[in-house]
Amino acid sequence: MKVLSVASEIYPLIKTGGLADVAGALPLAMGHHGVEMRSLIPGYPAVMKKVGKTKKVATIPSLFGVKANVLFVVHEGLELYVLDAPAFFQREGGPYTDALGKDHTDNWKRFAALSLTAAEIAAGLIPAWKPDLVHAHDWQAGLVPVYMRYGRAPETPSVITVHNIAFQGQFSPAIFPELALPPEAYSVDGIEYYGDVGYLKGGLQMAHAITTVSPTYAREIHQGEFGMGLEGLIRARASHASGIVNGIDTAVWNPLTDPMLASSFSAKQLTKRAANREAVMRHFGLDGDGPIFCVISRLTWQKGMDLLAEAAGDIVAQGGMLAILGSGDRALEGGLVQAASWHKGRIGVHIGYDEPLSHVMQAGSDAILIPSRFEPCGLTQLYALRYGCVPVVARTGGLADTVIDANEAALSAGVATGFQFSTITADGLRQALARVFEVWRDPDTWRQLQKNGMKSDVSWDKSAAAYAALYARLVSKGN
Ligand code: ADP
Ligand code: GLC
Repeated sequence: MKVLSVASEIYPLIKTGGLADVAGALPLAMGHHGVEMRSLIPGYPAVMKKVGKTKKVATIPSLFGVKANVLFVVHEGLELYVLDAPAFFQREGGPYTDALGKDHTDNWKRFAALSLTAAEIAAGLIPAWKPDLVHAHDWQAGLVPVYMRYGRAPETPSVITVHNIAFQGQFSPAIFPELALPPEAYSVDGIEYYGDVGYLKGGLQMAHAITTVSPTYAREIHQGEFGMGLEGLIRARASHASGIVNGIDTAVWNPLTDPMLASSFSAKQLTKRAANREAVMRHFGLDGDGPIFCVISRLTWQKGMDLLAEAAGDIVAQGGMLAILGSGDRALEGGLVQAASWHKGRIGVHIGYDEPLSHVMQAGSDAILIPSRFEPCGLTQLYALRYGCVPVVARTGGLADTVIDANEAALSAGVATGFQFSTITADGLRQALARVFEVWRDPDTWRQLQKNGMKSDVSWDKSAAAYAALYARLVSKGN
């Protein structure tokens, strides 16, 4: 089966978060399930530079008024169609923002262009490779099912995966006439959304199936608090929706072979984590012999980083250390930097994005803190499990589905892998920390937690099989 995946970022070419990791790992995993998955991605400068020599497979003389080519290349095992439309994608800054961090004002057009190109590929733009199904990710690809249904490839099934329903791609209705859609598309059954145009809304409405990245999040978004305005639509389409938990690329994240580590290790040689611990302490200027807690995160309200700032002093008071890598909200960054200045040698903050450092932190820290208010899946707890770094997580979304809390029952059954807390407040986090320190003082139990985590299956195997089954069902329905 041929499946076209459409995403606005993909590891290892361009990444701002977990979407890239998933978009980069899923095609490789699907290969083991009889699915030939190719990915359509925008030709950002970083992408064009890294892919090297490409082959032009299609020309689009006017894509929303600009000239575009579709290029094909195989990069690190990924079969890629790159949308080379310099007017849209050859820009300074990140995938969505300019060099100053401001959203591009024409993002609606840039990602409509990506989506329309995907729909054209579904309709046969590249005769040698016509997909049996198209899999769109998040709002940036939300219009893919819409363009497909409204004429481009109405017979081809589509799947949309929601990685985070908080990001919806909501734009002024003034853009509608420029989207090259028939007038009836601007309706409650189409892309109209509270009087605006909703890209994710349109995708959720028009895709043949909806998935989210964990079963718990799939249930949570039925409610207003998590659904963020889309809960009614999710409820209406519940029979077409499911949650499939993310896996991780266990070849990239392998503590035995990871070239980014100071020292490689396995569950049998946990003492070899020590060199990584030293590297973390050196990098963050830490001094002490207690547990190191790390945070690798966008610094945002979603991620509970204000709760972390409030509870940080408790970690120090109990003899722990804290290493924080992240960037995001300026006020939250400031709060954490301030906490570090009050607790020199015990709290270190690195504002920025640093992939190799994130690997060393997973390998050298004792625990990772993830106090998210909501978390569709979360990947850092999965990397942590694999690296013997014990996850301490809020009980929500994919965090609830992937970490087994060290309660009495789980401890005596020998299956616990981390800590969960369900009152997602600074006090809830503090109480969890008290439990963490209690177990930390019992080295055998702590080691058991690490080993259980390292044994847990965080690969794509089961979830890739679930996607393959979903694709097969949709394709055989002849949709
Ligand atoms: P989200 O996609 O919501 O940000 P995830 O946990 O799914 O959260 O994925 C985040 C990804 O980004 C992980 O691969 C994590 O290691 C990485 N990451 C986040 N912040 C940083 C950072 N500052 N430096 C390096 N990697 C980071
Ligand atoms: C989003 C979510 C995160 C998830 C990632 C990959 O960024 O916030 O929870 O792990 O997508 O699916």
